[in-house]
Formats: sequence, C-alpha cells, structure tokens
Amino acid sequence: MASVTERILQLKKEKNAVILAHNYTSSEVQDLADFVGDSLGLSIIAANTEADVIVFCGVSFMGETAKILSPNKIVLLPEPEAHCAMASMCSAEQIRAAKIANPGYAVVGYVNSTAEAKTEMDVCCTSSNAENVVNSLYEKNVLFVPDKNLGAYVASRSDKDIKLWDGFCPVHQCITVKQVQDLKAKHPEAIVMAHPECRMDVLNISDHIGSTEKILKLAKQLNADEFIILTEVGMKYRLEKECPGKKFYFPLQAVCMTMKMIEPESILNTLETGEGEIILDADIINKAYKPVKRMTDLI
Ligand code: 13P
Ligand code: SF4
Repeated sequence: MASVTERILQLKKEKNAVILAHNYTSSEVQDLADFVGDSLGLSIIAANTEADVIVFCGVSFMGETAKILSPNKIVLLPEPEAHCAMASMCSAEQIRAAKIANPGYAVVGYVNSTAEAKTEMDVCCTSSNAENVVNSLYEKNVLFVPDKNLGAYVASRSDKDIKLWDGFCPVHQCITVKQVQDLKAKHPEAIVMAHPECRMDVLNISDHIGSTEKILKLAKQLNADEFIILTEVGMKYRLEKECPGKKFYFPLQAVCMTMKMIEPESILNTLETGEGEIILDADIINKAYKPVKRMTDLI
C-alpha cells in the first residue's frame, strides 16, 4: 500500500497540480509543498503557474485570492473551514457603509479579507507591500481595513491621512511587551524581528519589522546567531532549515490554529475527491480582480 506522501505525489502528477503552502503550516505540510512562502509570494506563484490545479495549504482567503487571480484553474483548499480570524472582522457591507461615511477615501484592504470584502476595495496589499501600496496612491485620505496594527505601522511610515478599522489578528495581538522583555532577558544577544500584525508597542521595541518572507531573508543575511521572532511559530521550521546553526525563539502561544488544521491527509483527500474546491461567483471574481491584481503588481 502506497504511503500518503506517495499517493499525493502520484495524484499531483496525474492532475498537473502544484502544492503551495504558507510559512505557518506544519513542517509535514511544508515538506510536501512545491513552494512555501508568504501571502504575496504565493499569490504571485498562483497567478503565474502552468499547473491546472492549485492546492493551497493555507487559510481560505489565500485560496480565494488564488482563484481571483486564476479563475480558470481549479483551486483546492485541503481544509475549507480553515479561516483567518481577522478576515471575518470586516464585511463588504461594512466597507460599503464606511465608504458612504468617508467620501473620497481610498480603501486599502489587507489581503487577509474575504473575496466579497475585496470587491469594495480600491487596492489590496500584503504585509510585505502595504507601505508601497499606500504611498503609491494618488489620494491623501486612506481607509485601511481590516488590520489596525498593520495600518498603524504603515501610517507611521507615510504622510497619508489613514483611518484605521478595528480588526486584528488574535495570534499577533496577544504578543505583549512583557513577553518580549522576558524573551530578551533570557536571550540578551538575540535580534528581535516582528511581523507588522503585532501591536505598535511591540513593534517599537523590535529591531526589524517585516512579512514572514522578509523575516526569513533577514535571518539569513544578518550577522547574528540568535533571534526572537514575533510571529506565528510555524516559521520556526523554515528558519531552522534554511539558517543552520542559528537559534530562533518564539512567544509560546503564537499559534494560528486554523493553519494547523491542514495535514498531509487533508491534502490527499482534496486531490482524491475534489472536496474543498473554491467556487466564487463570477461577479465577485470580476470585481475583486482589479484590487488584487494591483497588489501583485506593486511589489
Ligand atoms: P505574510 O504575508 O507575512 O505571509 O503574513 C500572512 C499572515 O496571515 C500573517 O498572520
Ligand atoms: Fe489570520 Fe492571524 Fe492566522 Fe495570519 S496568523 S492567518 S492573520 S489568524
């Protein structure tokens, strides 16, 4: 009897499928993937792949974004109930109301949002290009949804007038200054790198701020052996694999439970049965395409 991995590899070949995995997925899932990366990197791969089927190992907004960029491809989510908690904090209806209350504001939406919410955005961004996206706008007034922390970080690096939404990532929101201070006391030589979904008080005591991919890049480049990493703990696997000999310390509770729902068995199931295929209304795809495409064009 073939193993789960062997069956996945066989089905991948038969269906001309590519497996994409976010940096927060488990080590087993990352090992099965053709590409592991951050939201922006994976979106760009999804937009350009020659594969007929994209298996997106990540939360649902990531698979939806791939479908918006490649509507003619089959996009499979191994765990269709794996949602991003922040994405549910901002609906299309709420954005419509906010646009009426704030005429003339450009709506910049973090990609961590539903496909429907994206139809109301002028442009999307990820944590790696949010600053460039906002600063590239013609408008002076910006409504930034849904992440108040990423929005506040961008506001600190822009002369735009930015209104923040009240959304946040529970995983990053729970990382506190006290935890960072405790980690620093234990590892005084370590360099602190934070994801911009962390709160501003935490960002203010960090040495570097960036997306998951930027954190990896810096860990490779910097002449240091120890790092305190303020983001989801799934990053540890790639950091240790790609930076041999270096040490990485995380806040213990920084776990995104929905990312961890994805397992090799769920990848096999979606490839075997087609369960978890992302189906979006053509109208939603058409309206969301422009802001998402602008996001992938503005690296
Ligand atoms: P990245 O864009 O850095 O991969 O982050 C995605 C995410 O969900 C962070 O919580
Ligand atoms: Fe969403 Fe936070 Fe999980 Fe990222 S870590 S997918 S923002 S809940």
